[in-house]
Amino acid sequence: MSTNCRNENSDNSIIILDFGSQYSMLIARRIREARVYCEILPYHTSAAEIASRKSRGVIISGGPGSVYEEGAPLCDPKIFTLGVPVLGICYGMQLMAFFLRGQVNKGHKSELGKAEVHIIQEDPLIAGVSPSEENIFHAWMSHRDQVLSPPLGFQVTARTSNGIIAAMGSPGEKIYGLQFHPEVVHTTAGTTIINNFLFNICGCSPGWTPGNFIEKTIPEIQAEIGNKERVLCALSGGVDSSVVAFLLDKALKERVVCIFVDHGLIREHEAREINNTFSQMLKGDFIFIDARERFLKKLTGITDPEEKRRIIGREFIEVFKDAALSLKGVNYLAQGTIYSDVIESGSLPSAETIKSHHNVGGLPAELGFKLIEPLKELFKDEVRQVGRQLGIPASIIDRQPFPGPGLAVRIVGEVTAEKLDLLKKADYILQQEASRCPSFTGQAWQYFAVLTGIQSVGVREGKRTYGPALAIRAVSSEDGMTAEWILPPVELLQRFTCRVYQEIPEITRVLLDTTSKPPGTIEWE
Ligand code: XMP
Repeated sequence: MSTNCRNENSDNSIIILDFGSQYSMLIARRIREARVYCEILPYHTSAAEIASRKSRGVIISGGPGSVYEEGAPLCDPKIFTLGVPVLGICYGMQLMAFFLRGQVNKGHKSELGKAEVHIIQEDPLIAGVSPSEENIFHAWMSHRDQVLSPPLGFQVTARTSNGIIAAMGSPGEKIYGLQFHPEVVHTTAGTTIINNFLFNICGCSPGWTPGNFIEKTIPEIQAEIGNKERVLCALSGGVDSSVVAFLLDKALKERVVCIFVDHGLIREHEAREINNTFSQMLKGDFIFIDARERFLKKLTGITDPEEKRRIIGREFIEVFKDAALSLKGVNYLAQGTIYSDVIESGSLPSAETIKSHHNVGGLPAELGFKLIEPLKELFKDEVRQVGRQLGIPASIIDRQPFPGPGLAVRIVGEVTAEKLDLLKKADYILQQEASRCPSFTGQAWQYFAVLTGIQSVGVREGKRTYGPALAIRAVSSEDGMTAEWILPPVELLQRFTCRVYQEIPEITRVLLDTTSKPPGTIEWE
């Protein structure tokens, strides 16, 4: 949709040209944290396109390329003559030197990790980075090639203790380069450097706030939809689609129809909570579809994880399609796509399919809906901030991420009504007990129970038992792409195990999953 605030924000925004660095997204995050709007664009975006966006500055990201390699990704060199401030980071600085006739040396060994950087002379970019008189700070390096001599008119402002050029700049032209990564936390002065670029060099102001986003987006939604049309909002009960529903509710009131498909693979009491929250808090219609039997039937006899995911995704589309087609006068479908989804499916090369993620993507084309995605410029934590500002209850906003195929990917082997019942009970006990340990829940990205598919022997009241083994999994993560396993407090483990033993006698054993991602994924299937 056109709830794209590019034009409204562009006179106070930054463009990041993405050369494939693992840190491009992190640059965007740091800039947004400084309350400045930014967009990541593909590296080959033309200077004319960049000029048309009237942004205040351009950052050229790092990347795995080498300027001397055949087919190396290059930016449009006219970017350096636009008169807009430019900051090249790592490969971005090498490109700058390459185009502006400095000298880049092809390195044979990469330098990775923390380096000591010595300031030679301050310029507006590195002003105030070293409070000590020694003029030293630590920076994160990840490069092979290096700039041997800067372009004409550039000053070398800092070098590493190995003598490598760490920073250079031409303040007159407002063009700067950094060999290290200011966006990485290990660069001690990273925030100062980024703020220097944003506020002192580009002249941005910190106006990107959740409140401003809501104020700006509501009239955009109203303009897009007009004053007659209705919008269908696909609700999953998760944070993103909930925020979309509340935003639409504010903009369009009773012209929003929310639809929730209960596939039976959700957590204990979740269907009731979603029903209560959304049917009471929103002004438009709320359609609740009980499709539990339909899904369970389709999953009978299926044990392959990918096959399960495919079946659930397909069936979801079928149920949704049936419901949507019966609605009259609804031409738009709203989805909770967020910025990381856009980036992952857009400018980065498509990664190997580890798991087929389930969402409603692909529906609009089939159903003839026009798509609106009002959150597609926001990161997850920004979505949460907007949600809080909209008055959405904390029970929704602070929800853990939950996979589309739900508990089916936490039951190894065939999904049956009995296994679902056991897992829902165990998960509910875990959520209850965990809520008594806020320091743990605050630290965890997700914590949940898994039916491992292992049967084991137990003993109960002097008699042999044989039943399923349950695992607890708790991880911390920034974005779900990588994760570290975390240890729940021992009292929590003790209380959980004790309650499982008392309340779910079928379970013979409780295990703790100590696998990070990689090598494990967060969900078991
Ligand atoms: P994995 O298991 O791939 O999960 O390490 C990473 C994050 O994504 C969630 N997840 C999903 N989310 N649809 C979703 O919307 C899915 O099909 C899906 N599968 C996994 C998972 O809970 C974790 O937060």
